[in-house]
Amino acid sequence: MTSSTSPFKSNQKNKHAARRLVITIDGPGGAGKTTVSRILAERLGYQYVDTGALYRGVAVAARSAGLNRDDEAGLGALCDNLDLRFINNEKGLRLFSNCSDITGLIRDPEITMLASAISAKPVVRKFLLVLQRYMAKEKGVVFEGRDMGTVVFPAADVKFFLNASQRVRALRRHRELDRKTGQTIGKVERDLQRRDENDSNRPLAPLKPAEGSIHIDSTHLSIMGVVDLMLSHVDKFI
Ligand code: DC
Repeated sequence: MTSSTSPFKSNQKNKHAARRLVITIDGPGGAGKTTVSRILAERLGYQYVDTGALYRGVAVAARSAGLNRDDEAGLGALCDNLDLRFINNEKGLRLFSNCSDITGLIRDPEITMLASAISAKPVVRKFLLVLQRYMAKEKGVVFEGRDMGTVVFPAADVKFFLNASQRVRALRRHRELDRKTGQTIGKVERDLQRRDENDSNRPLAPLKPAEGSIHIDSTHLSIMGVVDLMLSHVDKFI
């Protein structure tokens, strides 16, 4: 997806602000969820919550504590003492873990794979389920992740499932990571495939479209094309 400009419509923002919806966007890595969710929330005047960042936050804390990914008791104790929160400051939207800004650490490829592994653990999902629902108490929110419409907010007002072909998702991820890590496209695609398998086949809250979700394939769409399509659906619920 390429980014292009779309005029900001303030009357649209006011209209949506009047009816504060909970919107969920689920889908695999590289489908464009993060970018699209952020712009959609901006256009609606809503809050935006990247729940993958929360799983990544737990992974960063687990790595710092030297925990084994299968140590469920250790992960449980870690979560009991973990305060994850998003804070908007002069640097933008940042993720804090027990008062430390960990935003710069969460996209590390090692953390990406660790987040996928620990996200299959019931203690971790339970901890983040409570936190995510707490974050929805002020309505007017766009939540993006894997199980937003299926498990965390089954009664959400509007649910989307965003997908794209594996090749295009790998190309997008590679473009994002390349400058920072120098990873080859082959490695990026293999990691993406492994993560898709982990996330879709785990017994607990696997990645799958929610009942009643609107499916969008972003393979041949621009970012703004996806956002505009989503807005046209959201409009039906206002
Ligand atoms: O969206 P992401 O790539 O930043 O997510 C990182 C990992 O977190 C992903 O591999 C699966 C997990 N995750 C999850 O299990 N449930 C969510 N709602 C969000 C992410």
